[in-house]
Amino acid sequence: MEYRRLGRTGLKVSTICLGTMQFGWTTDEPTAHAVMSRAIELGINFFDTADVYSRWHPGNPGGVAETHIGNWLATGATPRDRLILATKVRGRMGDGPNDEGLSRGHILNAVEASLRRLRTDYIDLYQTHFPDDEAPLDETLRALDDLVRSGKVRTVGCSNYPAWMLAKALWVSDVQRLVRYDSLQPHYSYVHRAEFERELQPLCLDQGVGVIPYSPLGGGFLTGKYRRDTPLPESARAGGVQRRYMNEWGFTAVDKLEEIGQAHDATIAQTAIAWCLANPAVTSAIIGANTIAQLEDTAKGAEVKLSAEEKEALDAVTAWEED
Ligand SMILES: NC(=O)c1ccc[n+]([C@@H]2O[C@H](COP(=O)([O-])OP(=O)(O)OC[C@H]3O[C@@H](n4cnc5c(N)ncnc54)[C@H](OP(=O)(O)O)[C@@H]3O)[C@@H](O)[C@H]2O)c1
Repeated sequence: MEYRRLGRTGLKVSTICLGTMQFGWTTDEPTAHAVMSRAIELGINFFDTADVYSRWHPGNPGGVAETHIGNWLATGATPRDRLILATKVRGRMGDGPNDEGLSRGHILNAVEASLRRLRTDYIDLYQTHFPDDEAPLDETLRALDDLVRSGKVRTVGCSNYPAWMLAKALWVSDVQRLVRYDSLQPHYSYVHRAEFERELQPLCLDQGVGVIPYSPLGGGFLTGKYRRDTPLPESARAGGVQRRYMNEWGFTAVDKLEEIGQAHDATIAQTAIAWCLANPAVTSAIIGANTIAQLEDTAKGAEVKLSAEEKEALDAVTAWEED
């Protein structure tokens, strides 16, 4: 496994990050423990979660993925200091007006709840999950700054921010001498490029902000199990994948991944991960895996090194156009 510095920080993370959105949704707790233990064996030292995972699942109050991680850590499966644990705050976690958002109050309450569920006394990377238009950036950053100073949080990042907002946040941190966002977690894959590449990518490269894309397999589309004239696979995500990607453009993208992957004996999923990691702005790809088999298959993508010509040939097929 390769390790890269998270942006300009000294923190070294594996190029594969294990996502945990599926815990408590499509993966039960014993399987979640087995997947996490296998990830450690594969050299993955970086896990991503969020307080809200997976609140959308009927009867799930949120916090389940963090609880599974905390219970697994308590088994001693890995020493705490060998793991880089990332979680997020912003989503709704209760019925009250302050049970969501990026106000100082909610952040300070939410971090305590996450620490309790994760059964740890610090979070390596604390991320604002998505913007909150009702909380001023300086209020949010000051709360995060206090958390870093207190030792409860070590690094902070953001997710789903547009470029102007990340640039403004970096400026606020600079002029007010507050901790800054050292990572961005954007939606980015071979079939979802413009949102990141247009403005965020040059910003992150220029400012040394680490980039940890989520859904690098398009939620399962870039694995070869969604093909032309083939029945949908059994998956809780099949409907969403079908709506977003199952069209001629998407199928052509999958064909190209398959073609380029052949020279490396790589699966479609592995080639999709290799494409993502070949972007110089990208630090680590956050993958979802319901089973050990999926984890093992996808993680091998980190070993596939595409040539510049192969990357270019892939890029051409899903290139986006300037307006
Ligand atoms: N910041 C945010 O707003 C945000 C949003 C989304 C996700 N995330 C983070 O990113 C992580 C990954 O997101 P994601 O789950 O959308 O990523 P993904 O890697 O694009 O998709 C993962 C899904 O693809 C399928 N899959 C994975 N490996 C496979 C393989 N080798 N063969 C066949 N199918 C395979 C599985 O679904 P099936 O088995 O059901 O097909 C799995 O749940 C999440 O866990 C979370 O930590 C963050």
